[in-house]
Amino acid sequence: MPQINYVDHSGTCTPIMVPLGDSVMEGAVANGVEGIVAECGGSAMCATCHVYVDPTFSALLPEMGEVEDTMLDLAASERHDNSRLSCQIRVTEALDGLVVRMPESQI
Ligand code: FES
Repeated sequence: MPQINYVDHSGTCTPIMVPLGDSVMEGAVANGVEGIVAECGGSAMCATCHVYVDPTFSALLPEMGEVEDTMLDLAASERHDNSRLSCQIRVTEALDGLVVRMPESQI
């Protein structure tokens, strides 16, 4: 199972083994990782699963869809070049070791 590293706003890292095919958001919610709210349950409709993805993994991520792109503009915390909705990132073997940083606030 790939390991996803969730880093909260204070810099504390929580490594979680996430099943292949689950989303990065689901891995956080299922394990009680704070900092990802996921109000809409993964439909790309709330932007409360916003994360900053470590740039070394950028090329391995799925392409951003139009809906995700629009929702990121509405996120509570500032959007950066490496912003993604964690519910739109499916865990693959290639993403083993992925580092995602949570913003200061999701709501
Ligand atoms: S969980 Fe709502 S946009 Fe990701």
